[in-house]
Amino acid sequence: MSIRFDDKTKIFQLNAGECSYVIMLDSGYPVHLYWGDRLDNGDHSYMLKMTQRSCHNAIPFEQRPEFSLDTLPQEYSAWGRSDLRKPAFEIINGNGFDVVDLQYAAHRIFAGKPKLEGLPATYTESDNEADTLEIDLTDHISGITVTLRYTAFNNTNVITRSVTVKNQGSDTVKLKNVCSAMVDFDRYDFDVITSYGAWAREQHIERIPLHHGTVKVDSRRGASGHIHNPYLILCDHNTDEEKGKAYGFSLVYSGNFEAGIETDMYYNPRAFIGIMPERFSWRLNPNETFTAPEAVLVYSNKGLGEMSRTYHSLYRRRLCRSAYRDKPRPVLLNSWEAFYMDFNEEKIVELAKQAHNVGIELLVMDDGWFGERDDDTCSLGDWNVNLKKLPNGIDGLADKLSEFNMKLGIWFEPEMVSPKSNLFSKHPEWCIQVRDYPMSMARFQYVLDLTRSDVREFIFNSVSDVLKSGKISYVKWDMNRYMTETGSLNLPDDRQEEIYHRYILGLYSVLERLTSAYPNVLFEGCASGGGRFDPGMLYYFPQFWTSDDTDAVERLKIQYGTSMIYPLSAVSAHVSESPNHQIGRKTDLSLRTLAAYTGAFGYELDLGKLSDAEKEQVKNSICEYKKISPIISQSNYYRLRSPFETNESAYMYVNDDKTEALVFYFNILAKVSDRLDRLTLFGLDPDAFYEELESGKRYSGRQLMCYGINLPQLHDFEGRYWHIKRV
Ligand code: DGJ
Repeated sequence: MSIRFDDKTKIFQLNAGECSYVIMLDSGYPVHLYWGDRLDNGDHSYMLKMTQRSCHNAIPFEQRPEFSLDTLPQEYSAWGRSDLRKPAFEIINGNGFDVVDLQYAAHRIFAGKPKLEGLPATYTESDNEADTLEIDLTDHISGITVTLRYTAFNNTNVITRSVTVKNQGSDTVKLKNVCSAMVDFDRYDFDVITSYGAWAREQHIERIPLHHGTVKVDSRRGASGHIHNPYLILCDHNTDEEKGKAYGFSLVYSGNFEAGIETDMYYNPRAFIGIMPERFSWRLNPNETFTAPEAVLVYSNKGLGEMSRTYHSLYRRRLCRSAYRDKPRPVLLNSWEAFYMDFNEEKIVELAKQAHNVGIELLVMDDGWFGERDDDTCSLGDWNVNLKKLPNGIDGLADKLSEFNMKLGIWFEPEMVSPKSNLFSKHPEWCIQVRDYPMSMARFQYVLDLTRSDVREFIFNSVSDVLKSGKISYVKWDMNRYMTETGSLNLPDDRQEEIYHRYILGLYSVLERLTSAYPNVLFEGCASGGGRFDPGMLYYFPQFWTSDDTDAVERLKIQYGTSMIYPLSAVSAHVSESPNHQIGRKTDLSLRTLAAYTGAFGYELDLGKLSDAEKEQVKNSICEYKKISPIISQSNYYRLRSPFETNESAYMYVNDDKTEALVFYFNILAKVSDRLDRLTLFGLDPDAFYEELESGKRYSGRQLMCYGINLPQLHDFEGRYWHIKRV
């Protein structure tokens, strides 16, 4: 058992991989003692330092003046009993007051990891992969019981946390804030790493020294969003890719979130992550339960690289669930930047033939195949095929493609409706809206109200009707606007603040049903690019369209930033036209190919516009990709040079048994004598010998990891890659 409880000291010790997490019960409160390198099973109670900081800090027990909730490092702070820092838990109880006092009632330790009903979460495949601790805390006045759930994975430095609230009282209570995890640290000398961005500029990395007050990223857009991603990393000032401590917090959730750190007046930072409490409340009736999404905590003492690899391997193997989970993905061609909505059967079949000739396996027909959809002003919701464009229907098109062994994939945006659509004329009440106020439009569309079961049924049937013939191999599930005037005609007035979370629960239930009904379909998520690229979606979709910016140079930053938490197998990347459609930059086909090799690889251009020489190049690149894709999709990823800090980008993939590696290097703008002209590698076996396949040069693993490989002189926007094999 990796979790133990010492009844004498009242200490819980959780060991996960090489790390430990220690909690102690004191006067009924779970106190946070430690999270870091693995400890022996000693008596850790001396770690609780009780000092009376000031007589101004309120105390719950008169006889213990040193015991103040306002200074105590806690596991889960509830608002109202004198901790005036950022709370993890807030309610309004039946009599209108906001005090809640959570005290220890019981605990359970058991093997394995329970499912979170209705929510995505990491999982185990056998009970000996992890152990779980549940601690029940009860407020005896309101009858609220909060269960803190911790799962320690045995072989990796991962502790997951989630929280279930049960109302065992006789009054309805209003939950105002149910944070998924908080951790009180006793040291302040940290940096904070978060991501920031926008449409077509997702997942840029920001690192700042922790300061007093609150550092926070969040979303109140109804989706995790383009602007911030639901994670936060704390690390030492000198932590880099290979060394130093890092503490990662990542939320398995796709809606409004907050992830932050508040430092109190005594230099104690409190990290928190969970559903955004603004615009949230939840009425919990007697005997009902509410479960907050899972937070995944990762500790690394080997830098950010090790932290990311821990997330990658967990999310790849124990969060994603598709039939494609452990498989290289088919090389695809997406029609969006080739034709936008201007296509018909003939054009798609011709594109598919060209794609087939160069070795592409899957043709994805993007937006524009349904209703009257010739531009983005209409037809979302009318998921019947446009017979003017596709006279033989979807199945007829699939049949034509199957004649030359090409699979067909299709685009949907099921959560939306256009005002110009039959669906909207029939069911205006199905939109997210607030009575008496007009609805704001974004991309000429409204959001369907997924809190309604009739809407969920409609969405399931619309997608299922297209998939049920079994001729579709892939679905791109898009979502292209945020929520505004966020209300539901379906919910009573006193439950309107539940809508954001109920929407996400509704979405998850549709996705669960669809992905279970069609287990062999490859689903790819999309939200105007990476606007909902989060762990919640990866539970249903093993890959996500990383950004609508397909420029290879821009993608170096976007993909590098995405790798902070997400496995590269999930990072969908395509070769598009030059000049690039989003920013007009001209780049070489070879650069665009290398940049897109990063993850789930494909093309998004009209192959008919390429010269014969370029088509030959595409053919060779696909042939090469098929050889290396098992390494890209299943290996350990090392970031070598950051495009955020240098004029270059470099990274490498090493397979589990260290017999093969791929090294990628990109020069962004050439400069004179302004770079280290060798690249030091990582993750290899120092005692083994390796051959670089193109040149046939041999190196020892030690040479590669101490000195590295020499870099050639490269021009602006040029890249190289090396395939290294153990000899
Ligand atoms: C936004 C997506 O990110 C694009 O790839 C494309 O599918 C369009 N939507 C289609 O409307």
